[in-house]
Amino acid sequence: MIGIIGGTALLEEELFEQAEQRTVVTDYGDIDALVGKDYTFVQRHGRGVPPHKVNHKANIAALETVGVAGIIGISSVGSLRKELAPGSIVVIDDFMQLSGLQTYFEDEIRFTTPVISDKLRKAIAQSARKAKLGIIERGVYAQTQGPRLETKAEVKMLRQFADVVGMTVGNEATLACEKAIPYACICTVDNYAHGVTNVAPDWSFISKMQKKNICMVAGLIEEVLKHEHTG
Ligand code: HPA
Repeated sequence: MIGIIGGTALLEEELFEQAEQRTVVTDYGDIDALVGKDYTFVQRHGRGVPPHKVNHKANIAALETVGVAGIIGISSVGSLRKELAPGSIVVIDDFMQLSGLQTYFEDEIRFTTPVISDKLRKAIAQSARKAKLGIIERGVYAQTQGPRLETKAEVKMLRQFADVVGMTVGNEATLACEKAIPYACICTVDNYAHGVTNVAPDWSFISKMQKKNICMVAGLIEEVLKHEHTG
């Protein structure tokens, strides 16, 4: 069983039509999940929760409860590189998050070494090749806090170290690693980050692009689900 965390746009793609709706009770809150034969889908933002208030702990814990062997996040990002245009798909191989870290280990001394699952990332890349979908198979994701976008100065700094920027993956990957669940992420590049081009990103452009780009991801997820991927 694979866990998928994504946005509402993916639901409109008829990908999960056969799934059964289930409420999963966790120590961190209840999560509405769509459970299919070999996947469980969780809507990251539930019913319209803004990015800085997403209950990542409950989302990951719900997927642990249903017994997923791996989690694929689907996430909207801004490009930190001119040559990485909106409409691209990046399956990141690493991430950075310098503030706002979340943890399940609030009251115990336990360190996790966070990683993106190489096995799951490669499985996604292989599925993309099978689906004849051109993707970028590596990249570094910089997580910022949100809900605001970055300043130009912040982007100038981040682009020295990362390829894409978003508000999600650091939290999800870290919490999944704490639960020892392999995690990988498919990023849709929905805009250039602030200052990368002369045009400043704005929310209406980003949400339009999200809807446009998600249909490519639906095809990719369909291909991934044809194979049993774990680890
Ligand atoms: N910055 C942060 N998060 C994002 C962006 C961005 O430019 N685009 C989509 N999510």
